[in-house]
Amino acid sequence: MTSKNTSQILTNSSFNPPPIWMMRQAGRYLPEYRRLRERESNFLSFCNNPHLSVEAALQPMRRYSFDAAILFSDILLVPYAMGLSVSFEEGRGPLLSSIDQTFKFPKEERVLEKLNVVAKTLVLLRDKLDKENFTNAGMIGFCGAPWTLAAYMLEGESSRDFLKMRYFALSHPSFFSDLIVYLTSILSKFLSIQFSAGADFVQIFDSWAGLTDEDQFDRWVITPTKEIVENLSPYPIFGFARQAGSRVFLYGQKTGLKGISLDSGQDLRMVDKLLSQDIIVQGNLDPMRLLVGGTGLEKEIKRICTQFRDRPFIFNLGHGILKETPPENVTHAVSLVRNFQ
Ligand code: CP3
Repeated sequence: MTSKNTSQILTNSSFNPPPIWMMRQAGRYLPEYRRLRERESNFLSFCNNPHLSVEAALQPMRRYSFDAAILFSDILLVPYAMGLSVSFEEGRGPLLSSIDQTFKFPKEERVLEKLNVVAKTLVLLRDKLDKENFTNAGMIGFCGAPWTLAAYMLEGESSRDFLKMRYFALSHPSFFSDLIVYLTSILSKFLSIQFSAGADFVQIFDSWAGLTDEDQFDRWVITPTKEIVENLSPYPIFGFARQAGSRVFLYGQKTGLKGISLDSGQDLRMVDKLLSQDIIVQGNLDPMRLLVGGTGLEKEIKRICTQFRDRPFIFNLGHGILKETPPENVTHAVSLVRNFQ
C-alpha cells in the first residue's frame, strides 16, 4: 500500500517562495525521456506500463526536485478505455477513431477496469518517490475534462478550432448531453481511484474550454466540473480551463475547485482582485519564455511571483513545456523561483 507521505505542496502554497511544478515536466524535451520512450513503440502502451511511466515521472524529479511529481499518462487513456482506437503520430498529434450519435456507451465497470492500471502506477510512484528521498514531494493525478475529451472523441484528431465537434455539439444536443453526463460519471470514479491510490490532488485539464460560447461554458465546462468536485468532496481538485479569459472567475466561483491553473493570457492583477483568496492560483509563465530563456524569463518569473506573493500560489507554466526547451532553462527557472523572496 502507499506509505504515509508528508507532502506539503498545498499548505506551502501560502508561503514564499511558492512551490513549483510544471505542466508536461516529463516528456520529449528531456534526452533521458526520449531514450526511455524507445522501449515501447506505442505511446499508450508506454503509459499503461507502470514501470516505464513511473520512470518517466521520476526523471524531472531527479533533475529539478520539483515540489510534486505528476502521474505520467495521457488524458486520451479514457477514450481508449471506452473502446476508441487512439494513436499518436510524430508531428500530427493524436488520432482517434471518432464517434457519432450511433456510439453505444460501454458499461462503466469495463472502462474503469481498464483505467485501473493508473492506480498501480500511482502506488508504485509514491513508493519510488519515498525511496528516492522525495518524501515531501506531492503526487498529482489528472484527467481530461468532459468537454475536452468529447472534443477529441468527436473530432477524431487535434484541431485549432474543432469545427466538426462544435457543429455536432449544437446539431445533436441530446446525444452530446448524454456523452457529457457519461464522461462526468466515469471521470468522477477515475479520479476517486487516483485519490485512493495516494494522489495529493488532481488536475482536470479542460484544454479546449476556450472554444465554448457563454451557454456552452456554463453547461459543459462549469456544470460537469462542479459535479465532479461535489462527487469527490472534500478531496482537493484543480481545474485548468484554458483560454477561458474572464470566465475563469465564474469557473472559480461556481465549481468549488480548490485551485485554478491560469494560462499565459490571463491578466494577473485582475485574477488576484476577482478570484476568491481561498482559491489557490497556479501558473502562468508562457512556455515560450522558458524556451527562450535569458532576462525575459527572469523578469517574468519575478513579475508572476510578486503579483501572487500574498495569496496561496503554486508556480507553474501557462501550458505544457515545449519539446524544444533546453533542460538548463528549466534548472534556471526553478532556481529563480526558489530564490524568490
Ligand atoms: O509531465 C506530464 O505532464 C506528463 C503527463 C501528461 C502527458 N499528457 C504526456 C504526453 C499529461 C498531464 C498530458 C495531458 C494532456 N494530453 C493534455 C492536457 C494538457 C494540455 O497539453 O493541454 C492534452 C490535451 C493531451 C492530449 C495529447 N497527448 C496531445 C495533444 C499529444 C500530442 C502532443 C505532442 O506533443 O505531440 C499527446 C501526447 C503526449 N502526452 C506526449 C506526452 C509526453 C508525447 C508523446 C510521445 O512521447 O511520443
